Amino acid sequence: MEKLIINGGIPLKGSVDINGAKNAAVAILPATVMAMTGKCVIENVPDIEDVHCLQRILKSLGCAVNKINENTLEIDSTDVNNFNACTDDVRRMRASYYFIGALLARFKKARVELPGGCPIGVRPIDQHIKGFEALGAEVTIEHGAVNVKADKLVGTNIFFDVVSVGATMNIMIAATLAEGLTVLENVAKEPHIVDLANFLNTMGADIKGAGTDVIKINGVKELKGCNYSVIPDQIEAGTFMIAAAATKGDVTINNVIPKHLESITAKLKEMGAIVDEGDDSVRVTVDKKLRPVNIKTAPYPGFPTDMQAQFMALTTIAEGTSTVTETVFENRFMHVAELRKMGAHIDIDNRQAIVEGMPRLHGAVVNATDLRAGAALVCAALTAEGRTEVGRLHHIDRGYDDFVGKLQRLGADIVRVDE
Ligand code: EPZ
Repeated sequence: MEKLIINGGIPLKGSVDINGAKNAAVAILPATVMAMTGKCVIENVPDIEDVHCLQRILKSLGCAVNKINENTLEIDSTDVNNFNACTDDVRRMRASYYFIGALLARFKKARVELPGGCPIGVRPIDQHIKGFEALGAEVTIEHGAVNVKADKLVGTNIFFDVVSVGATMNIMIAATLAEGLTVLENVAKEPHIVDLANFLNTMGADIKGAGTDVIKINGVKELKGCNYSVIPDQIEAGTFMIAAAATKGDVTINNVIPKHLESITAKLKEMGAIVDEGDDSVRVTVDKKLRPVNIKTAPYPGFPTDMQAQFMALTTIAEGTSTVTETVFENRFMHVAELRKMGAHIDIDNRQAIVEGMPRLHGAVVNATDLRAGAALVCAALTAEGRTEVGRLHHIDRGYDDFVGKLQRLGADIVRVDE
């Protein structure tokens, strides 16, 4: 087991290049199995554990996967011959469920183990199943796996009961090869939804409206291999914005789409940070005590739930009382107990955390409980007085590419060692 050792108090200075978006890449890579001819070359793929898992799953289905470089993958799905995705990798991550939509679309059958992922709530997949059945598939769940099959998929109107990133993506994937028009309403509008739609259209799909309240998919006969580059990761970018603010540093974050960071930028400015936007960068500087803030997570363009833990870490050293309300997941406050070990004053009232700002946190031995909680603890440790150890790094490895190296190059005193 490895851990991070961080000595806090050093203002981060310099610039950092953001990688491709995890939550776009983990939908685009499964969707490549729908390419009946040609190869997909996907660029700007983050080199993270979730992507490593997906590469192994793609190979288990019969895809030829070549790593052109650390951030570019070539996938040839011409000879896919296995419709069962039932490996430990499938059970380990959440995004493996996109193989259901992709295999159902192309082969009209699939057997995929139920997904894993961060334990931040029950995370049912009822909306995914609702969509598959609406398109004409028969769905059964037995022995921990989802079985889907259909004679054919026929376009239809689907109104989601819950705004769900995963369900929006999975049904958009499945509908690309259905017969006729599918209209999706009450959909998620995150940047990665738009990125997936753009990728599918580059393969030959006919999707309109991604990023708006209504997505229309006209089924096509065939999807082909193509070249595509993944959008920058808004959450990785936001995480480094928080690290810069927490350490009262001066950091330029490159390879971003500032519009995707609007809610994060707005909240940082409310706290007193200076955020200068470039065409594809943001510069965060803080030179005084931070003001408290009230955060309430919501689907895009609202404040992203994936930035909740990181922002909470920042409010622990603001000058006053902040509130953090988590409306998306029912169990996404596991980082509170760990932040308390570092001296944070946080009370929880159901879905709301009340944070009394402190002059400074102190180092402690803490553990990541999920991906973004782990990132939040690193941000807290970078500003805390003294030494912090962060364990259970597999959570962080799932979603951050070279996190330690990037922080070291910004001046952080952080190393990764064997326990
Ligand atoms: C995606 O998870 C992301 N993961 C999560 O990021 C992110 O927090 C979440 O979207 C919200 O933005 C990936 O993209 C791999 P949802 P997903 O379906 O798709 C309920 C990270 O840190 N729901 O939008 O699982 C669900 O329980 C990870 O990068 C149903 O009730 O999220 C939740 O309360 C963590 N039924 C809400 O909807 C369903 O069928 C939103 O979930 C599906 C979801």
